[in-house]
Amino acid sequence: MNDMTGTFEADVAALQFLIDAGLDVAIDATPNDRFAARPEPAPPAPAPDTTRQASAPAARPSAGAPPIDSDRAAVAAAAAIAPACGTLDELRNALESFEGLAIKDTATRLVFADGNPEADIMIVGEAPGREEDRVGKPFVGESGKLLDRMLASIGLDRSTVYITNSVLWRPPGNRKPNPSETEAMLPFLIRHIELVEPKLMMLAGGAALSALFGMDARITRERGKWRDYDASFGTVPVLPLYHPAYLLRQPSLKRDAWADLRAFRTRAQALGLTG
Ligand code: URA
Repeated sequence: MNDMTGTFEADVAALQFLIDAGLDVAIDATPNDRFAARPEPAPPAPAPDTTRQASAPAARPSAGAPPIDSDRAAVAAAAAIAPACGTLDELRNALESFEGLAIKDTATRLVFADGNPEADIMIVGEAPGREEDRVGKPFVGESGKLLDRMLASIGLDRSTVYITNSVLWRPPGNRKPNPSETEAMLPFLIRHIELVEPKLMMLAGGAALSALFGMDARITRERGKWRDYDASFGTVPVLPLYHPAYLLRQPSLKRDAWADLRAFRTRAQALGLTG
């Protein structure tokens, strides 16, 4: 029998297994049980600039204590913190201090937004990928380059739009954000939209659509169909489009995307937002 336990070959085989399973970041030299060590989310606080608590992980409840539903606590904390942010800087600071999500520990940095915060057009995507996590801006990888070309085709660029994501830390291995992550980020996304006050929004992919409209959206069915987003400052017309990463995998769908982009341009022109 070829027992490789404890050998260099066994270590390499184990590492290869993890790479094949999608692991692409090494965070520490020794393993950490992050489920045991992750601090509970900060309790709801009115001031957004609470200091980060990661350096001193909170103890988990002792045996016998009622279990803490930390997903629910994260959503509650986000719902208390986000609306209190009066500016985009405060929102960014509040997110930097937010300890409700484990993906913050595995991401390199917060990927907050890019483009013009004064723009009337806002674009919401899914979550940062590897390149966005490295650079700190949304949509700068391959799908971002395609997004830039899509915007250019209707006379827009990053000086005339504001771009963010539904989830602002990269999920490890570029997996999709899970529902509890999306839910915990939603109060921040809602406040983000309130602070920018766009007149028109484009949702890049089904994840952004589900986040804002609370439905298990199928982008193949919903793309190109206008919806109304009821914000605190008014109703914003919203158009879901195929995510550029999906278009890279399915180039034949670019024809539909082009139809959607033209519809978006027509609406933007009608609202006097573009020439
Ligand atoms: N995909 C997204 O949804 N957002 C990014 O920022 C990058 C890729």
